[in-house]
Amino acid sequence: MKIKNYSAVYRMMHWSIAICMMLLLITIFLRLTWMNKNNVAEIIQNYLNTTDQSLTQDQLIVLAKKIRQPMWDWHIYLGYGLAVMFSLRFLLPLFGEMKFQRSFKKELLLKEKFQNFIYLVFYGCVVISLSTGLVKIWTINN
Ligand code: HEM
Repeated sequence: MKIKNYSAVYRMMHWSIAICMMLLLITIFLRLTWMNKNNVAEIIQNYLNTTDQSLTQDQLIVLAKKIRQPMWDWHIYLGYGLAVMFSLRFLLPLFGEMKFQRSFKKELLLKEKFQNFIYLVFYGCVVISLSTGLVKIWTINN
């Protein structure tokens, strides 16, 4: 088995991107589960049922979204962080770091070509997610 030596910059970028992506996925997981607006609205509704107060469904959802917002703000910070790191990752090869290998070189084994193909698909998906995220935030703020 070939042992590859990765530079300190390579390792740092790799782990920063991995940690950022993991945290970003946690925000999505929370939004879809515990911090889901309908769940939170139901908790508030259940509490109000034990008192003599009431809110409309629309008011409950507004309140639920407000409670969720500080958590979701982290999705946006992490999204910006990841966008910066991903851009750096594509710029670094210009300075001789983190070079991309030519994915379909003849000398590569089929397994390695497949591996490189999967990396390309992954990069494509992340670039699409980052761009749509940035467009969303841009359109919300304008
Ligand atoms: C790998 C990168 C990213 C992934 C996988 C991702 C994933 C998601 C998902 C799954 C949703 C929909 C949540 C739902 O409706 O249940 C979402 C919404 C959103 N994302 Fe991202 N995102 C990424 C990057 C970004 C970036 C870079 C930004 C901006 C800086 C961003 C800002 C937003 C905003 C503003 C929403 C909409 C929230 C709303 O409609 O209330 N995302 N993202």
